[in-house]
Amino acid sequence: MAVERSFVMVKPDGVQRGLVGEIISRLERRGLKLVAARFMAVSRELAEKHYEVHRGKPFFEGLIRFITSGPVMAMVWEGPNAIEVIRSTMGTTNPVQAGPGTIRGDLAVDIGRNLVHGSDGPDTAEKEIALWFRPEDIVEYGRAADPWVV
Ligand code: TYD
Repeated sequence: MAVERSFVMVKPDGVQRGLVGEIISRLERRGLKLVAARFMAVSRELAEKHYEVHRGKPFFEGLIRFITSGPVMAMVWEGPNAIEVIRSTMGTTNPVQAGPGTIRGDLAVDIGRNLVHGSDGPDTAEKEIALWFRPEDIVEYGRAADPWVV
C-alpha cells in the first residue's frame, strides 16, 4: 500500500457553518494523519492558480468568488492511498449524488457549496501541496496509533 499525501481544504462554507472540526475528525477517524495546516484567507491569485483547469468554464467566476469569500482551512493529509481514501470520504463533487456516510452526502446539498476539496490524483496532489505549502511547513512524525491503522 502506497503512502500518499493529499491537499485538503475546508472551503469557506465549511468554516462559516462551523464544520472544520467535523471534517478534520472524519479524516482522523478514517486513520489518516494531519501533516500540515494553515487557516487563511485566499487571494484571488491563489484561487485562480488552484482552479486553473476550470478557467473558461461557466462556473469558474462563481467558484473563484466563493473560494475567496472567507477563510479556509488548508491542510495536507497523509496515509495509505490517502488520495482515493479522501475522495471517497468526501463523496462525489455534486452532493446530490454523494452517498450517505460521506462528508458531502451527510452535510451538503449544493455543488457550489460542497464544503471540502481533496486532490483528485497524485500529480494534482503534488502540484496543490506545492502551491499552498512550503516544504518546511509539512511535519513528519509517527503516531502510536499508526501500526493499528495499517
Ligand atoms: P471539480 O474539480 O470538478 O470537483 P472536485 O472539487 O470534486 O474535485 O470542480 C471543482 C469545484 O468547482 C467543485 O468542487 C464545485 C465547483 N463546480 C461547480 O460549481 N459546478 C460544476 O458544474 C462543477 C463541475 C464544479
